[in-house]
Amino acid sequence: MSGVTYDYMEQYLRALIPSNIGIIKDLEDFALENRVPIVQKETAKFLELMITMNRPKKILELGTAIGYSAILMNLTSGGISEITTIERDEKMIEIAKSNIQKYGLQNKITILEGNCLEILENLQDEYDMIFIDAGKGHYNHFLPHCLRLLKKEGVLIADNVLFRGMVASKKIATRRKVTIIKRMQTYLELVSSNNELITSVIPMGDGISVTIRRNKVSSKEE
Ligand SMILES: C[S@@+](CC[C@H](N)C(=O)[O-])C[C@H]1O[C@@H](n2cnc3c(N)ncnc32)[C@H](O)[C@@H]1O
Repeated sequence: MSGVTYDYMEQYLRALIPSNIGIIKDLEDFALENRVPIVQKETAKFLELMITMNRPKKILELGTAIGYSAILMNLTSGGISEITTIERDEKMIEIAKSNIQKYGLQNKITILEGNCLEILENLQDEYDMIFIDAGKGHYNHFLPHCLRLLKKEGVLIADNVLFRGMVASKKIATRRKVTIIKRMQTYLELVSSNNELITSVIPMGDGISVTIRRNKVSSKEE
């Protein structure tokens, strides 16, 4: 299982989540059959919760794959959320575009084609929500850009931050993943230690972090 929590806990929590139907189920089936990594069931539910609570108008996603999470977020918002999503893999881009077209969401979901870091460097818009789900070894490099692009009241969500539990324990870390692990630890340390941010790390799915800006205390009150 994921290595992030106890197997029995994961199985129990996952079993509580009702199966999807329609578009979302079709995309899940495609991802499973074609071994495309998409957000885990409990992470998808968490995204639904965040979208419904925060009602973000503009969302930036890093990592489109087949468009599953982008489509899920748009549908959850009742079509209100406009999503800009970044993907570098040509095959994935082709499938995501066809899915977005198939469900008539081309005015709501825009794919930016290329490497997240290069695209982030050139983005100027501001977003109500940013979801990081690409390039596990680069979250710490994405962070300054994400904070620059995040609205004052915005929410920054990152998936895979515990990376099969390896981020939290040297005992289960494999040598090949050392760089990813170290960089992910740096990301978590940065978002946790920054006094201007509030971050909560949730040991669910592959580990999710949620970061918001702390409201600044006015100088009179300090
Ligand atoms: C986990 S998948 C995204 C899944 C998607 N968010 C979902 O749940 O439906 C990660 C995707 O990010 C892409 N990716 C990885 N590193 C990237 C990078 N540096 N720039 C752009 N895309 C990247 C991969 O090609 C892959 O399709």
